[in-house]
Amino acid sequence: MQRLAHPHDIRAITMQWHSEKHTIAFVPTMGALHEGHRSLIDEARARADKVIVSIFVNPLQFNEQRDLDSYPNTLDQDFEVCLSAGVDLVWTPSREDMYPDNHGTMVVAGIQGEQLEGAHRPGHFDGMLTIVLKLLNAVKPTWALFGEKDFQQLALVKQLVKDYYLDTDIVPMPIIRESDGLAMSSRNIKLSQQTRRRAIALYEALMTVQDAAQAGYADFSNVIQSMHQRLNALEGFTLEYAVLVDPESLVEQMVLERQLRFLIAGSFENEGQPVRLIDNGPVIRLSDKTIPLQYS
Ligand code: PAF
Repeated sequence: MQRLAHPHDIRAITMQWHSEKHTIAFVPTMGALHEGHRSLIDEARARADKVIVSIFVNPLQFNEQRDLDSYPNTLDQDFEVCLSAGVDLVWTPSREDMYPDNHGTMVVAGIQGEQLEGAHRPGHFDGMLTIVLKLLNAVKPTWALFGEKDFQQLALVKQLVKDYYLDTDIVPMPIIRESDGLAMSSRNIKLSQQTRRRAIALYEALMTVQDAAQAGYADFSNVIQSMHQRLNALEGFTLEYAVLVDPESLVEQMVLERQLRFLIAGSFENEGQPVRLIDNGPVIRLSDKTIPLQYS
């Protein structure tokens, strides 16, 4: 496994791989790798001749300095994960490598990035799209893998690829969960035992909506309203949003006519510091479900 830092070196090696007709699968990360990242890397390994993982905590996408400063750094363990997963190249640029003094432009997320996460984290998506464009342009991967946990990020990255004619297929990957349902996140290691137990509320909210869909509910206004009341009453938790949206446009919906997506975000007070968590999942109308045939 190779480790490189400077984008020029990445350009040189990926151009060589492209000229040798290798396929490349790329997993962009900010490190603190967990089972969720591992599932992306495994899928990348299964698809491509060459697998590249980038590890870069992108300052431009942090709207709060405190969040950036406390972002977990587990670089040695991350290398172990990459090595054991058969990664060919780990790209670990420095801030100066990615944003030298003469770096001038930024991508603007636009209207799709203003709601939900964008409303609570101003500038986050502009910074995220800027780094993703730089990473994708340097690697020019055949596939780039993104987790569905950051559902709005995934939608915006797909839009970026479309808007800028990037020659990469974006592969969405399902959320990986702990045994009690908590979505895996690099931020989970910041949670105290007590907050960790409370954090399950996000998954329970998702279950409530999915159960209501199973039970045949079509209008979700009351379900969402009583969920908001319950979550707002939760000690040490600040709810940011809990909404049902169209999975393509991310426009809020209350009536389940086709498949929708439930998205939730909030902050847990954790030993004096807030830890922000997000989760989401599909909400499928009962009649749209495929019932597998049973053979006996
Ligand atoms: O999802 C992340 O880890 C980051 O937003 C990404 C895509 C690596 C860009 O910094």
